[in-house]
Amino acid sequence: MEILVTGGAGYIGSHTCLELIAQGHQVIIADNLSNSHRLSVERIQSISQKEIVFYEVNLCYEKAIEDIFQAHAIDAVIHFAGFKAVGESVEKPLMYYQNNLESTLVLCKTMERHKVHRLVFSSSATVYGMNSKSPIAEHASLYATNPYGRTKLFIEKILRDWSKTIPESSVALLRYFNPVGAHSSGLIGEDPQGIPNNLMPYITQVAAGRREILSIFGNDYDTIDGTGVRDYIHVMDLALGHVKALEYTLNSKVCDAFNLGTGKGTSVLELVKAFELVTGQKVPYQISKRRSGDVATCFANPTKAKNKLSWEATRDVVQMCRDSWNWQRKHPMGYLSS
Ligand code: UD1
Repeated sequence: MEILVTGGAGYIGSHTCLELIAQGHQVIIADNLSNSHRLSVERIQSISQKEIVFYEVNLCYEKAIEDIFQAHAIDAVIHFAGFKAVGESVEKPLMYYQNNLESTLVLCKTMERHKVHRLVFSSSATVYGMNSKSPIAEHASLYATNPYGRTKLFIEKILRDWSKTIPESSVALLRYFNPVGAHSSGLIGEDPQGIPNNLMPYITQVAAGRREILSIFGNDYDTIDGTGVRDYIHVMDLALGHVKALEYTLNSKVCDAFNLGTGKGTSVLELVKAFELVTGQKVPYQISKRRSGDVATCFANPTKAKNKLSWEATRDVVQMCRDSWNWQRKHPMGYLSS
């Protein structure tokens, strides 16, 4: 199939492109490189030994997207593109609502005009808010605590409404838990701009000497060791989840949501210790106060994806740490090191 991947140069997008190509699909990337690097596209090509069609475009520009749909016989779309920093979304809510919502609306309108009915959307476990008890299943109540999370929630609702109007449509909403790791080549990986918000890139940057010390946000939660528990999932498992979801959209005529997680919780301290053991790198840390908006525990019930998508995460925390470090070690400054 010919698949349009929006945000395909980004962290999860680039890994998914590789998995799509490995499964025999043709990939067209549309990305404005606002939070990604052109080099990642070159790396996808060199790893896969396949030519990739790349458009540097802002998805909000309808004409540019129309041109892509005119130029290719697109069978399905995987939609990753969007702003994703929680803190920034609180400071610039309009920017987040405008970018994330408008781009999705433009994309859907263009898909509708070209009778492209299959869509996989990059959502997040953030749509479960703070109140759900883990393991969290898809039918848990939905609630977002910040503008970024609300854009995910709103888009899920928009896609549900939209799909009801088109009987042939098939939409998979993929709610990711905590993606970490990198492709085993170490040629592509997560390259956050500025100070990382998420735990794993912070750990790897401390290990690489880019940051002095990791702050652990609270050790007085009601968890195994007092630190926050999350469901870390290897980005290559996540990538395969997208391919499976894409295959699912071939045979379904609904809009449905799926958790992509391992179903296993790991605490901050457990992850730090596993990282040190696997990599032999010391990660100095200090305990600091809780981060506002954090929950003690959040992990998935991944049964629905297993049953309906025939997908299950297979890589463990050891492999996640090894691959995250392999990327960071080879690229201490991310793509700029190249
Ligand atoms: C965060 C976002 C969430 C987003 C998700 C995926 C917040 C409040 N939530 O979730 O909306 O969907 O990332 O990108 O930002 N931690 C530290 N020190 C650090 C960084 C994190 O101790 O420097 C702890 C956190 O308190 C948490 C765990 O590590 O217990 C994981 O944090 P993080 O990687 O930011 O993911 P989430 O909190 O799950």
